[in-house]
Amino acid sequence: MRILFASSEAYPLVKTGGLADVSTSLSSAIREAHEDIRMVLPAYPRAKADIDALQTVTTLVIDGVTVELLQGILPATNVPTYLVDAPAYFAREGHPYCALDRRDWQDNHLRFALFARVVVAMALNEANLNWQPQIVHCNDWQTGLVPALLSQHAERPAMVFTIHNLAYQGLFPAYRFAELGLSESFWSYHGLEFHNQLSLIKGGLSYADHVTTVSPSYAREIRSGQFGYGLEGLLNYRAQTLSGILNGVDYRHWDPRWDNYIKAHYSPEDLQGKGQCKQALQECFGIEVRPEVPLLGHIGRMVPQKGVDLILKAVEPLLAEKRAQMVLLGSGDKALEDAARALAARFPEDMGVCLGYNEALAHQLEAGCDIFLMPSRFEPCGLNQMYSLRYGTIPIVRRTGGLADTVVDAHADTLADQSATGIVFEPATAPALAAAIERALSLYQDKPVWTQLMRQAMSQDFSWAHSAQHYLELYEGLLGERAHWPATRWEPGKQRSEFL
Ligand code: ADP
Ligand code: GLC
Repeated sequence: MRILFASSEAYPLVKTGGLADVSTSLSSAIREAHEDIRMVLPAYPRAKADIDALQTVTTLVIDGVTVELLQGILPATNVPTYLVDAPAYFAREGHPYCALDRRDWQDNHLRFALFARVVVAMALNEANLNWQPQIVHCNDWQTGLVPALLSQHAERPAMVFTIHNLAYQGLFPAYRFAELGLSESFWSYHGLEFHNQLSLIKGGLSYADHVTTVSPSYAREIRSGQFGYGLEGLLNYRAQTLSGILNGVDYRHWDPRWDNYIKAHYSPEDLQGKGQCKQALQECFGIEVRPEVPLLGHIGRMVPQKGVDLILKAVEPLLAEKRAQMVLLGSGDKALEDAARALAARFPEDMGVCLGYNEALAHQLEAGCDIFLMPSRFEPCGLNQMYSLRYGTIPIVRRTGGLADTVVDAHADTLADQSATGIVFEPATAPALAAAIERALSLYQDKPVWTQLMRQAMSQDFSWAHSAQHYLELYEGLLGERAHWPATRWEPGKQRSEFL
């Protein structure tokens, strides 16, 4: 199969969150399954710098803008990767979506419309590549216009759109629509209009042949008012063409048996090295080295989604009583950053905070902690809880989205049948999290039980090969349907049952 995978992030070229990890590991797993998948990304400065032997393959003029299409191989994979080089749009220092002052770039709608138009040219074999994909796989709002634009072409590939986080929708004021020079027919509630705003994610949700999201539970949740942000009607309407495929873990990067970032390697058979990793982490954060005290950790974007506020409230009494230590790595909302720093300042011997983005420290934290806190208010999939499992760092998670799909709560039955892998709790409140931590701490006191739980967690297998297989089956199914187009083709505003 020929597949074009369009994303705005790919590790290690550009990463603001899990999308980058998923783009790289999924495309490389599909490549390893011997399918011709190729990636296309905006040519952000680091992306250009980090691909060796980049070559210009063609120059296109799109809407009056000259765009060079560069080609190379995504580092540490064998995925051919195209970079859309339009310096006025993408050659900006800092964050891919906002300036250094954290305000969104004012022309994001134009930037990602240009990106989408280049992807469309590639998808229609109009980019001088002599290669036409049969499937275009788009990810998140940055690529939402691709399915909308392609829907107007009969000879288009089949289109998959993956929602990594429905909270980010690419919403713009209505007047921005006119700046994109799109056909008026898109301005409808079946199209890109959302309560009189321009919604780029709706381009994917309305026009792709199939919509996926990154866990089965989240696929169900976004069809409800609580998690659908007003898009639940559309998502329910698409119920038969919406599914959840759990993300995977790239164990080449995330396994304590060979992780190069960590102090000592360890495995379920030989856990010794984990103690050294813990000590190294305590030293790195400048907290007291207390081997016997449970060390709690968290990594993440500091936004309300992730529940850092709950963590800070729940751990405070534990720190005051010196019953646990806490290390935190993240960056985001100023108020949350300040609150984290303030708590660490009150308990400098037992709490460490690193504000910023640090790949090596993320690995060291996964390896050195005993317990990983992930009390997300919602979580489409979440990667860190799966990394934690592999590092024997028992995750404490809320029962939501991918967290619910990947962690098995430890209670009498699951401990007895050895299926337990972590602690799962329900209400998004600090007392509920505190109670979950207490449950973990009491298990931690019983060394044989805790060690058994660690081993069970470490033996879970969320490797990408399995998840990639689900995507391959989806692609194959769509190609099978494509043979019967237009009768079977998805069109917005048309119930699938009407044409099947
Ligand atoms: P999300 O995509 O919502 O941010 P995920 O759990 O899917 O959440 O993925 C987050 C990814 O980003 C993980 O690989 C995590 O280790 C990484 N990450 C988040 N914040 C930081 C940080 N401050 N430093 C290093 N890595 C981080
Ligand atoms: C998003 C979600 C996260 C998911 C990631 C990769 O950023 O917040 O839960 O794991 O995308 O799909």
